[in-house]
Formats: sequence, C-alpha cells, structure tokens
Amino acid sequence: MQSPTETRHEDRLEASRLNLGCGQDQISDFHNVDISSDVQPDEVVDLQQTPWPWPDDSFSHTLASHVLEHLDPVPWDEICRVLAPGGTLVIVYPIGNTRFEDPTHQQFWNWNTAAAISGERKHAHAHVSNLSLVTRDFGWNVTGRLWRAYTRYRLAVGGPGAWMGQVPGLFGEVTATYEYRP
Ligand SMILES: C[S@@+](CC[C@H](N)C(=O)[O-])C[C@H]1O[C@@H](n2cnc3c(N)ncnc32)[C@H](O)[C@@H]1O
Repeated sequence: MQSPTETRHEDRLEASRLNLGCGQDQISDFHNVDISSDVQPDEVVDLQQTPWPWPDDSFSHTLASHVLEHLDPVPWDEICRVLAPGGTLVIVYPIGNTRFEDPTHQQFWNWNTAAAISGERKHAHAHVSNLSLVTRDFGWNVTGRLWRAYTRYRLAVGGPGAWMGQVPGLFGEVTATYEYRP
C-alpha cells in the first residue's frame, strides 16, 4: 500500500513530461525546452551542456522529436538520468535522403538505428543499456505509384529499407518508444 508521500510523488511524475528541443511545437502539460529563446520555451536549455538542470528521476515521459540528430554527442546519460524508472522516451528522427540536407544535423540514422540504440540490433558502440525498445514505426510523404511500390516492399521485408536513403527528395521519420529500466 502506498503512503500519501509516494502517491504525491507519482502524481508529480505523472504530470512531469519533458519536451526536448520543442521549437514551435510546444505541448501543454509538458515542460518544453529549447536552446532558442525565440520560440519562448518554458525553459531555455542547451542540451549539449551537461549536467542538465533537472534532478534524477524528474520525468515520467520524455519526447525528443527531431532534436537528437542535432546533438553530438547525443546525451544518452542525461536522458536516462532525468527519466524515472519505468518512464518512457519517445524519439522521432528523420530517415531518407533529406536527413543529409540540414547542415546542422550531426547524426544520420536509419530504420535500424532505433533498435541499435537499445541493443536489440547489435552495434558495439551504439548500445544504451538502460533503454528497452517498445515500439517503432515510421511515416513519410510520398504519394501515388511510389507509395504503393513502397507499401509492397515494406510488407515483403517488414520495415523500411536502406534504399530509401538513396532516393533524392524522399523524407521519412522514425518514431521509437523506449522504456527506461535502470
Ligand atoms: C527541427 S527542430 C524540431 C522542433 C520540434 N521538436 C518538432 O518536432 O517539430 C529542432 C529544435 O531543436 C533545437 N535544438 C537544437 N540544438 C539544441 C540544443 N543543443 N539544445 C536545445 N535545443 C536544441 C532547435 O532550436 C530547434 O527548435
């Protein structure tokens, strides 16, 4: 049975959601942070400066949409440190050829990277041991015949292929959800 103190702690965590690199995409009930004061985030934070200004276990949920690919190194230790045990991390990152167009991109990931981050797909240097991949999916903006061909391809191989990174102008994004298990 929980003590009143534990209940209040859980309630606080439930309300504590972090939106990293929010840009204009600020979400109510999230703590929206960005390096740019122009977008008027809840807090101006340079995620490349560690340690981050929040205590351990501060958040039950962290969203990092189109921001981690701008960081080098990616501050995985801080991402894990501020997540409460059992908390979730959702990352969204670009795949396809357009990921190479933004000169501020530092990371160039593909479909497999989501699994490599958490070690489901083996890469010696990419494993964040406290993150467990729960789901991953993707979306992208092509239409017509190419979309139908791609859908058939996806059904055949069970995921986006490396070829999509070679097609000029194609944009896609992966959304991956992890659970933090320290
Ligand atoms: C492509 S935008 C993504 C905005 C929003 N999350 C979305 O999904 O549309 C990348 C954002 O990351 C922010 N950003 C880049 N480097 C950062 C850093 N070192 N610390 C904090 N924010 C950063 C940028 O200012 C920008 O608002």
